[in-house]
Amino acid sequence: MKRNILILNGPNLNQLGQREPEIYGKRSLADILAEAERHFADRDLELRQQQSNHEGELVTALQLAPQWADGVVFNAGAYTHTSIAIRDAIQGITIPVVEVHLSNIHARESFRHSSLLAACCLGQISGFGWRSYLLGIEALLTHFDDAEEAN
Ligand code: DQA
Repeated sequence: MKRNILILNGPNLNQLGQREPEIYGKRSLADILAEAERHFADRDLELRQQQSNHEGELVTALQLAPQWADGVVFNAGAYTHTSIAIRDAIQGITIPVVEVHLSNIHARESFRHSSLLAACCLGQISGFGWRSYLLGIEALLTHFDDAEEAN
């Protein structure tokens, strides 16, 4: 069955590749999408990427996601640690959301250790650089397969 996955990115992630490359790596968002397209080329999967620096736009993107997507791979950036509005938006949709981070947020400053979003997500992937996105997509595909098997 064909699956649609939205890769949603929050603030400052449009700067990936240039922004603190020692922490976040050298690949841009476009590079990561291209890697994911290549990696999952043999799967019946369509990927779309969306990025915003604005909290409300991310809320709207999550609200609209179920119109097209079967699931969301979401790096909320710093809003992970602060946004009840984004948490509520995730809670308010019925499609699964996987939280991803390039860096290991638990190994960094203490204010990054907690996620307001994780409890409303299928799970959290953190610390595998750009490959966190691949792992997030894989997690969703596995989840869809399991759900189908259960039916
Ligand atoms: C991040 C981790 C956040 O703490 C940070 O604010 C980001 C990126 C990551 O992908 O590692 O913007 O989400």
